Amino acid sequence: EHLALWGGRFSSGPSPELASLSKSTQFDWRLADDDIAGSRAHARALARAGLLTSDELQRMEVALNELQYRVDTGAFAPVEDDEDEATALERGLLEIAGDELGGKLRAGRSRNDQIAALIRMWLRRQSRVIANQLLDLCMALIDQSLKAGRTVMPGRTHMQHAQPVLLAHQLMAHVWPLLRDVDRLRDWDRRIDASPYGSGALAGNTLGLEPVAVARELGFTTVTENSIDGTASRDLVAEFSFVAAMAGVDISRLSEEIIIWNTQEFAFVRLDDAYSTGSSIMPQKKNPDIAELARGKAGRLIGDLTGLLATLKGLPTAYARDLQEDKESVFDQVDTLEVLLPAFTGMVATMAFDAARLEAEAPTGFALATDIAEWLVKQGVPFRHAHELSGACVKIAEGRGEELWDLTDDDFIEVFREFLPAEQAVGVREVLSTEGSVAARAGKGGTAPTRVREQIVSAKSAVEQL
Ligand code: ARG
Repeated sequence: EHLALWGGRFSSGPSPELASLSKSTQFDWRLADDDIAGSRAHARALARAGLLTSDELQRMEVALNELQYRVDTGAFAPVEDDEDEATALERGLLEIAGDELGGKLRAGRSRNDQIAALIRMWLRRQSRVIANQLLDLCMALIDQSLKAGRTVMPGRTHMQHAQPVLLAHQLMAHVWPLLRDVDRLRDWDRRIDASPYGSGALAGNTLGLEPVAVARELGFTTVTENSIDGTASRDLVAEFSFVAAMAGVDISRLSEEIIIWNTQEFAFVRLDDAYSTGSSIMPQKKNPDIAELARGKAGRLIGDLTGLLATLKGLPTAYARDLQEDKESVFDQVDTLEVLLPAFTGMVATMAFDAARLEAEAPTGFALATDIAEWLVKQGVPFRHAHELSGACVKIAEGRGEELWDLTDDDFIEVFREFLPAEQAVGVREVLSTEGSVAARAGKGGTAPTRVREQIVSAKSAVEQL
């Protein structure tokens, strides 16, 4: 039994130590359905090449259906001696179809082209699940942005109050990177749309099999152009892995924001009870665990990517067993994202902002200082001086423990006197409101309510098109 796949030239089976190192069914069994789909297509290719009679093909198809049924029901599963999913499924097929017929299916294919095809099939399918989950998250953020309306909040750089922005603008800033992640997956899907089936171990097959037909049956448009590349490259697996890691990082950035906004000191947002956790000892606690897990899992998603890249680096260019290590990292990423994203989206969809508090905080910390400087520029003051004059206003307010709008008319007249007559100087008050400040930022991509509304409309249509 040990000798099943390569018996001829061996006088003993693998040592138990080798077998346990070599074994991969504990993680690659999830490729079984795709492997059986590949076997169906391959059987038909063998029949077209005259290597299976139509009767044999029919019996093979019946046997493969039975195998699929046994896999689905758990009646057939890998055993200790099976090296990988392909070895196990071959054993299963031989059990059903007998050695004579079952033994014909292996002709003209290698586990090298097989596994390279399977990882592509599996990843493509999962990428679509993940893309849709990312779009759900985008929609939850878009809905929150619509609900936020014209609510203004403190915009920060370096975590310090910088300029007021619409809450919707801040939330939408997280939508665009996520849409790019989905777009990356769509774009990657075009590149991975080529089947390595028919590449054999590395050099192609001699049996006159038609790889294009196999490719089509497996959902690929085309076949890889080079059989060595087809079996040995995993750049497309790594590219998927990058997008998964990037999505993790994008979600982690939003998590960090939510965690801070949810603190007692900020109190910008409240999380729904169903998406928060408590403490086993402190009865008052309500914790943002989903956001923290998302932030933590981003580290793991990055680790999966760097582990895979390290495996690929320096491999000779045809199949080497190192390539078996391509799977667990992306499986882990898929499992991680597919559990994380629905929970995260639920948290985002149900969180409630404290609009009054956001509005009250928006202009504080001298966040309108840039508006004063830019107003002065509109009055003809060179920006270098305008910056200085506005800074002087901040200094006075800070010294008194006040905000900019608490300065008196006399203060402004005094500070601006070298550049503006008194009647003009007091006009600065018109920009000392958050509404005026955000409305003024009306260039494309700016935080003015009209621009943000346009932004939401175009994000929505991007979601529909992606
Ligand atoms: N299980 C292997 C993998 O996942 C495929 C088997 C290839 N083995 C071989 N000796 N060529 O990459």
